[in-house]
Amino acid sequence: MILVTGGAGFIGGNFVMDWIAAGLGPVVNLDKLTYAGNLDSLKSLESDPRHIFVQGDIGDTALVSELLARHRPAAIVNFAAESHVDRSIDGPAEFIRTNVVGTFGLLEAARAYWNTLEGEQKAAFRFLHVSTDEVYGSLDKDAPAFSETNRYEPNSPYSATKAASDHLVRAYYHTYGLPVLTTNCSNNYGPFHFPEKLIPLVIHNALAGKPLPIYGDGQQIRDWLYVKDHCSAIRRVLEAGTPGEVYNVGGWNEKANLDVVHTLCATLDELQPRADGKSYAEQITFVKDRPGHDRRYAIDAGKIERELGWRPAETFETGLRKTVRWYLDNQAWVANVTSGAYQNWIGKQYA
Ligand code: NAD
Ligand code: DAU
Repeated sequence: MILVTGGAGFIGGNFVMDWIAAGLGPVVNLDKLTYAGNLDSLKSLESDPRHIFVQGDIGDTALVSELLARHRPAAIVNFAAESHVDRSIDGPAEFIRTNVVGTFGLLEAARAYWNTLEGEQKAAFRFLHVSTDEVYGSLDKDAPAFSETNRYEPNSPYSATKAASDHLVRAYYHTYGLPVLTTNCSNNYGPFHFPEKLIPLVIHNALAGKPLPIYGDGQQIRDWLYVKDHCSAIRRVLEAGTPGEVYNVGGWNEKANLDVVHTLCATLDELQPRADGKSYAEQITFVKDRPGHDRRYAIDAGKIERELGWRPAETFETGLRKTVRWYLDNQAWVANVTSGAYQNWIGKQYA
């Protein structure tokens, strides 16, 4: 039994489904169901007794303590967070509440629970904190990729709150001995990705005949990793990572945003051509840049490869193709998550 937080979101949902499919044991899934959490993503587990869903806040220490005492998990994997940079610029308060104060509450409950464990159970317990490469800040064009020893230089309210949570996790290891693991991963993409983020937004807008918004000059660089590869990295770190250590996770796939969007358009042109025979690339539109927009992220994933033998299975091309295919085959999921409040966000952000 493990406790997963944020398991109704994009990466957490994929993680829970993969974990159960691999027969690794039951999961208690604690999720607040914010706008980013969708039980629709977990439909395949609806009547599976190995999935126990609980709606609640990671910062609710009483609830988390009660869940830990009742289910006695061997590990906690913390995905729960406010995750969208643009929303953190629009309104940072919720990011402080969940990413900083919420993680603190979760750590307190985990520490109290861990102190009740004994022997083998205590030694084997792990708290795995899922974090981001954005805590390291922005790289110049020719600078070496982020390694685990890079200085923290977060530039957005989102990355600052993730950095704060990483520091708290680290402190709980050094001060209390809580056996923590931290992973800092690059940009994920794949099934069940909420269409506020670049890749699912572009697929969604392309099919709807809407503009494909490129911030600034579109030359910002991100490293892209297929979500299932991120999930396999987390499983590997949980299994064999050394407590107190940090592992960078990435896809060795640095791409400029404009190139990503052109590849998406070419894939869509092939799999679902526009009725007028023109390319989806005609819908590309340059819009106002994101304030404080980080120019480049790149991950050196050498440590996790050397020490734990993990490497991504997908290339950018295979992963992106699977992703486009998934969105074409799952338009009902997209229609469900883009009704209601989603429209308000899009209206405000791209006005
Ligand atoms: P997401 O926004 O899709 O999902 C977040 C989930 O957390 C949602 O289901 C939401 O309901 C839940 N949640 C939010 N606040 C909560 C709270 N207070 N208590 C309980 N649940 C709460 O995010 P994601 O893209 O799946 O990211 C998951 C984690 O991975 C985050 O910590 C993020 O910082 C990190 N990460 C994401 C990426 C990426 O590219 N998406 C890359 C690296 C790291
Ligand atoms: O690097 C890991 C991070 O990746 C995670 O920690 C975050 O949770 C996740 O949201 C993601 O952050 P980004 O800001 O890099 O992702 P996003 O999809 O929002 O944007 C990717 C790039 O595309 C970024 O340079 C901004 C740009 N962009 C984004 C949107 C939504 C556009 O040009 N147009 C858009 O409409």
